[in-house]
Amino acid sequence: MNNFLSAYSIQSWLESCPQGYLMDTEYGHQPGENEPEAYFDNDILREDALRTTTQLVLGERCALAASSGLINCAPDYESKHFLATQTLDEARHVEIFTQRLYDLGVKKDDLESTLKHYGNPNLVKFAEVLLEKVDKKDFIAGVVGQNIVLEGMAFSVFEMLKAVNQDSNPKFGHVLAGTIADERRHVGFGENRIGSLIKQYPERKPEIEQMQKDMTYHMLATFADAFSDRDETYAESQRVFHTDDASAEGAVWNGTNLSVLEPAAMEQVLADTVLKEFKVRLGRIGLEYQSPPTPKAA
Ligand SMILES: [Fe+2]
Ligand SMILES: [Fe+2]
Repeated sequence: MNNFLSAYSIQSWLESCPQGYLMDTEYGHQPGENEPEAYFDNDILREDALRTTTQLVLGERCALAASSGLINCAPDYESKHFLATQTLDEARHVEIFTQRLYDLGVKKDDLESTLKHYGNPNLVKFAEVLLEKVDKKDFIAGVVGQNIVLEGMAFSVFEMLKAVNQDSNPKFGHVLAGTIADERRHVGFGENRIGSLIKQYPERKPEIEQMQKDMTYHMLATFADAFSDRDETYAESQRVFHTDDASAEGAVWNGTNLSVLEPAAMEQVLADTVLKEFKVRLGRIGLEYQSPPTPKAA
C-alpha cells in the first residue's frame, strides 16, 4: 500500500505535473505556439479540427464530472486525494481543449452551440452510462468506467492524434503530450486501486462487466462515425500537409505508419489498439472483457 500512497499522493502530483512537465506551458503548449495557418483559409481542415476538438472537450467534461463526483463516494482518503488531483487535471483538459476551439476562431458566445453542432451523439451516450454509475455513488463501477474504460480510450485516441499531428501542428502535439502524461497516471490509479476492491466484492462483477460492454459499444459507434465520410478531409489534409510521405517518422504509432492509412484502416488500428488495452487492463483487475455487438455507422 505504501507505494500506492506515494505514487498517487498530492505531493507526487505537484512534483511531477505542475512543477514538472507542465512547467512553463501555456494552455498546455509552449508560449507563442499557434495553430497552423492552413486551418484559417481552408474550411475543410478547420471544420475537421473543430469536430475532433469538440469530442475531446465532451470527453473531458465527462471525466471532470466523474472524477469530482467520485471523491465523495471514495472509501479512503488516499483515493479522495488522488481524485482531487485528477479533478484538477480533468478541469485543465476541458480548459485547454476549449481554448483550442477559441484558437481555431470559435467565439466565446458560440461555444455551447459549437459543441452541440459537432458533438457525436454516441459519445454523449458513452458518457451517460458512466455518469449514471457516478450519480448512484457506485465507486467501483465509477472507477472502472472512468479510469479503465474512458481513460483507456482517451489515452489511445490522444496518442494517435499526437502521432498524426506531430509534424504538422507542434502546438497541438504539445497540448496532447501533457494530457497523455496525465491520463497515464489516471489509468495507473484505476488499475492499482480497484483490483483489491473487485476481489473484495466479486458479486459486483456482472454489473460492472455489463457497463464495460455498453460503454465499449458506444465507443465503437463513436469511432465508426468519426472515421466515416472522411475521404475529402483525408485528401485535403494530404494535399496541404504532404502527410503521405511514407518515410515521415512522426506519424508512426504502434508500428503503423498512420500517414499512409486511409480512414477505414485508421479506425481499425485505433479500435484494435483500444480493445487490446481494455483486455489487458481489465484482466489485471480481475474482470473479463465483454465484447459488444458491432455498431453500424450512422
Ligand atoms: Fe482527461
Ligand atoms: Fe483523465
